[in-house]
Amino acid sequence: MSDPTGAREDQPGSDRSRERNPHLRRDAVRSVAFRALTEVTGNGAYANIVGGQLISQAGLEGRDAALATELINGTCRGLGTYERIIEAASGRSTDSLEADVVDLLCLGTHQLLATRIPAHAAISTSVDLARQQIGARVTGLVNAVLRKVSQRTLEQWLDRLAADQDPIGAVAVRTLHPEWIVAACADRLGLDPSDPALQTVLEANNIAPEPTLVARPGLITVDDLVAEGAESGGPSPLQAMWRGNPGRLAAVRDGRAGVQDPGSQLVALALERIDAPQGPWLDLCAGPGGKAALLGALAAERGERLVASERTMHRADLVTSAVKAIRPRPAVVCADGTQPAWRSGQFARVLADVPCTGLGALRRRPESRWRHQPEDLDDLAPLQRSLLASAIDSCMFGGVVAYVTCSPHRAETIAVIDQILQQRDDVTVIPAGPLVPELDAADGDFVQMWPHRDGTDAMFLALLRRN
Ligand SMILES: C[S@@+](CC[C@H](N)C(=O)[O-])C[C@H]1O[C@@H](n2cnc3c(N)ncnc32)[C@H](O)[C@@H]1O
Repeated sequence: MSDPTGAREDQPGSDRSRERNPHLRRDAVRSVAFRALTEVTGNGAYANIVGGQLISQAGLEGRDAALATELINGTCRGLGTYERIIEAASGRSTDSLEADVVDLLCLGTHQLLATRIPAHAAISTSVDLARQQIGARVTGLVNAVLRKVSQRTLEQWLDRLAADQDPIGAVAVRTLHPEWIVAACADRLGLDPSDPALQTVLEANNIAPEPTLVARPGLITVDDLVAEGAESGGPSPLQAMWRGNPGRLAAVRDGRAGVQDPGSQLVALALERIDAPQGPWLDLCAGPGGKAALLGALAAERGERLVASERTMHRADLVTSAVKAIRPRPAVVCADGTQPAWRSGQFARVLADVPCTGLGALRRRPESRWRHQPEDLDDLAPLQRSLLASAIDSCMFGGVVAYVTCSPHRAETIAVIDQILQQRDDVTVIPAGPLVPELDAADGDFVQMWPHRDGTDAMFLALLRRN
């Protein structure tokens, strides 16, 4: 078939010539990775979303797509530490360099220090990329800095950077995390920063999990998913592992199953398992709808109905799509959960899965550890308290609120519950551990999951009964 642009099929740069020439394919892989990185660092894009889009636009498949994904995710995970290595190698602050040059150097540093790509190939392709994407004026700098980076292994660079640090800073360097996240995990687990266990906790964030499916009760079973090629096993009784693109499964496309971390499945199950009166259920912060779809299915099995509320319209639309297979269909409402659009005291079970820093899901969001700042907590904690208060107000007497975060940070978890308990005398904490018997994750009266121990995101769960 002739090329609609009129170009000869094998002309350099044409898709056909790129398919046949491994060097051109590898160039395409690196330019996709570089463009994704500039979108992440410059425009606040999510690495997994923009990466997927650019990979499919460039027609990358198989090993090329896998390499592009690894380069994007791996570089994003190491960004802050790679910048420090580049500063040590070049003797200048990355603030004095153009943002695109820093991105390109980070991409080159990742290839040199954390992949099996030979050093000469990592450097020469980075120089070519610099010439094509930024300009010939920066090729000398890129070449010189990456040659210096290549003179040590990752371990040697980390040893050198960690030597100047206090114990928290040293763990931060060695595990590719910002210091405030290391400090938050040490605080929450009561670990001394020099305890090797802290490093294990943080290293779990550097391993991307396989997609986990949830079989939504009443709509499909785990056995049905296994018959489609999924693998059973894992902490949640509703989970199945799926290697590959979950969108290829009809059950995922039509909403009988979904992609959901087992920790999210277990917190929804805990709210269903607890003893509570009959009556409607509420998901106060429902977007994009993973837990709403599971709760909606669980509620339907008990003859109850779910109301799923979300503040932003486009995320409310995602909830509508997530719950499309459930009958009776959950009601989806677009409302600010701090100013409910419903009568108080009418729900038997309420989920408050509040907006949070997402520190519990760092393993699946490569860039997010560098994007959040400790100051984010100044805005989030008051909103979390306000949403929890509203969840309690929405709950009938004897009903139960599940307060959930995908973060282990004290300020978003225990501190929020403590403050609510100081302000109100109409709630009692119910020990949550026995309601998640699949895990040994009780943390006092709460549940705190951890990726390194439980194989889940670091979900926090508190259960409060309205007196
Ligand atoms: C952690 S996410 C919820 C995830 C969801 N439960 C799920 O499993 O898919 C928090 C959600 O709260 C929403 N949100 C933020 N502020 C809110 C408010 N004032 N009222 C209701 N929802 C809010 C955010 O838009 C976001 O969709």
